[in-house]
Amino acid sequence: MASDLQAPPDRGASSFVYPPTSANLRWFAEALRRGDLVGIPTETVYGLAAHALLPEACRGIFELKGRPLLDPLIVHIAHQEQLKDLAEVSVQAEEVLKQFWPGPLTLVLPKRSCVPDIVTAGLPTVAVRMPGHPVARELLGYCEFPLAAPSANPFGYISPTSASHVRDSFGGRLPFIIDGGDCSIGLESTIIDLSHPEQPAILRPGAISAAELSAALGTEVAYTGPQKVTAILAPGMLDKHYSPHKCLRLFSILDVPPPSADTARIFFARPSEPQKNDYWFSENGDLSEVATKLFRLLRELDKGPHQKLLCEVPHMAPAGDLAAAIGDRLHRAAAKSKS
Ligand code: TXA
Ligand code: MG
Repeated sequence: MASDLQAPPDRGASSFVYPPTSANLRWFAEALRRGDLVGIPTETVYGLAAHALLPEACRGIFELKGRPLLDPLIVHIAHQEQLKDLAEVSVQAEEVLKQFWPGPLTLVLPKRSCVPDIVTAGLPTVAVRMPGHPVARELLGYCEFPLAAPSANPFGYISPTSASHVRDSFGGRLPFIIDGGDCSIGLESTIIDLSHPEQPAILRPGAISAAELSAALGTEVAYTGPQKVTAILAPGMLDKHYSPHKCLRLFSILDVPPPSADTARIFFARPSEPQKNDYWFSENGDLSEVATKLFRLLRELDKGPHQKLLCEVPHMAPAGDLAAAIGDRLHRAAAKSKS
């Protein structure tokens, strides 16, 4: 469905990318109401948003991303009151959303009938998140309807952490992208399955750790990861995902491969004696900074002159913490495609 609203009032410096002025955000809310797709900033990664209650608009997300229809989408809301219209909210769900919303946490809950099947891939549950990014919040506030939004990358490629990443991937096929700057977290939200509240489980690790969620719920939250959801073939759960086009291999800091002319070596922290093709996410290896820069540096090097990429991966990571989230993305990015 194409918008006939012409163009947002305030233009940006580059085509398809628009500054987040209030006039533009009101205009984008109207475009979304009519069924258009819009690239939106969040604090985790950029999203490819559509009106979550319009099945045809949501279908456009799958087409543009090249995403299989059996992979469900995350629904984004502005206010906690919107949640009860979309899902059955348990006491446990209220407890975690009170502590972590708005923020990088997605709850999987039993869905209500108004949520279209295309959003949940026919599952009886829906994934919902209230983002903390001020631009996303202002836009969602103008919308007054929920937005379905997966990460704004072609299916299987590295997630986007800036408006230019989104433009690089889709060009004129996505003429509406809102510039909210670089994502402060840089990794997708933690997903907790609370559809069986007595058995909470983390499906995808992120910035909110299993330990924080266990403390909030007063019960052990297991990190079941991919095993639990293989049946639904969730994209973030597939063996291969978040992948550069170039060959990517991983190493532990305990076993660093020698430098080589055609290969970029990527470290968490600046090596003591950096070589010509060495790169690092953070001067001192701070894990939050590694997370923030992870996808950006992988994208840059994927476009750069090196033939191959070698990247450090955490050699020890307690299940469900930030090191585990970083390791999870890197292992999938480096996985070979299953035929
Ligand atoms: O940080 C984020 O979560 C970003 C931003 C844009 O909000 N979104 C994001 O969406 O990462 P996406 O589509 O790339 O990943 C959503 C994940 C998928 O692995 C999907 O299968 C899972 O959420 N998911 C969605 N609904 C689900 C459900 N009902 N049960 C289990 N997993 C679900
Ligand atoms: Mg994704």
